[in-house]
Amino acid sequence: MTRHLFDDIYYVGACDKCKPLFENLFPLPDGMRYNSYLIKDEKTALMDTADETVREEFLANVENALSGGKLDYLVIHHAEPDHTALFTEVLNLHSETVLVTSAMGLKFINQFTGKDYTARTKVVKEGDCLSLGKHSLTFYCAPMVHWPEVLVSYDNYCKTLFSADAFGAFGSEQGGITVSSLADTDLWANEARRYYSNIVGKFGSNVATLLKKASALQIDKICPLHGMVFDTDCDFALKKYTAWSNYDAEVNSTLIVYGSMYGNTKRAADLLACALDKNGETVKVLDVSKTHYSYIIADCFKYSKLVFAAPTYYGGVFPAMEQLLNVLKKTNMTSRKIAFIENGTWAALAGKAMKETLSTLKADFSSPTVSIKSAVTKETEQQIIALAATLTDN
Ligand code: FEO
Repeated sequence: MTRHLFDDIYYVGACDKCKPLFENLFPLPDGMRYNSYLIKDEKTALMDTADETVREEFLANVENALSGGKLDYLVIHHAEPDHTALFTEVLNLHSETVLVTSAMGLKFINQFTGKDYTARTKVVKEGDCLSLGKHSLTFYCAPMVHWPEVLVSYDNYCKTLFSADAFGAFGSEQGGITVSSLADTDLWANEARRYYSNIVGKFGSNVATLLKKASALQIDKICPLHGMVFDTDCDFALKKYTAWSNYDAEVNSTLIVYGSMYGNTKRAADLLACALDKNGETVKVLDVSKTHYSYIIADCFKYSKLVFAAPTYYGGVFPAMEQLLNVLKKTNMTSRKIAFIENGTWAALAGKAMKETLSTLKADFSSPTVSIKSAVTKETEQQIIALAATLTDN
């Protein structure tokens, strides 16, 4: 179904409710939106296409919105196939359409298709404008948000930022498209944080550069390629992105993530949670074997203090924890207090392995590692209580 959004802008994207994993990695319990927009001015411009999985709905939406009219431009902000899978079909349907993309975007779509679209493409760079009539798009480069070729564009007429993957989110929010339809903007934030931290989180400085460019613009609306359209309260999204790109924690609380084979490391994690609770601290506890790592990475961005508790395995760390920490390391996270609890029946090495994995992060590792031999004893319980004290703000 085509939806009129505002001014001359129509939503022609679609939601995939069937795909289990985005990028074959990230769970999609509430589906995934592939957003695309049509601007109908003196000239028409389609802003990106969509994923192969929503082919029929997307193509029907575009044709419905065009109502038999011609399509002058297809703007490709980002060449990743979740937004370009259908561009050849659009071009085949509309022989008049000119592609608009960056030089690197053109290179990437040529690579993906094995064809050369140079003759049909208007290459744009930072600061270039595309006039559609009342609407005029100014392009800005946004390298590594999320690929190097990425452009965003700003429509000066309706003060709208077409932000590519930036401000995107997993999920479909039960069918709503605009943030103004949400009862609580935090509904967006939870899945936007998971999307950001896992997909763009490594590139905080690149996101900060984009936000600096955006700060010079009056942004009344944000149209990302995933998730919801910000038709109101853009400051909320901009503030969240500022915090995430700076690796600023959103809550001054402790996240405890544990792996446990027989319940003994879990017991240590629970005792730490109880001790923190007794100290008046709020705490969240997650089992690394039961919670997909993408949710834990999102919480690592949210919480200010992180504790990882794991058994020794293969002379190193429990594999599920190893995977999590390897991903966390790649986010380049900073400004956290990070502590460890290790367990080992004959040679406890998990603490050393966990600390080494995260050693490149600019974080506070000053809390002593608690080392458990098989099960918590009265002595190690006291060490856990002492660890809670180092995590408790006075
Ligand atoms: Fe939604 Fe980086 O593609």
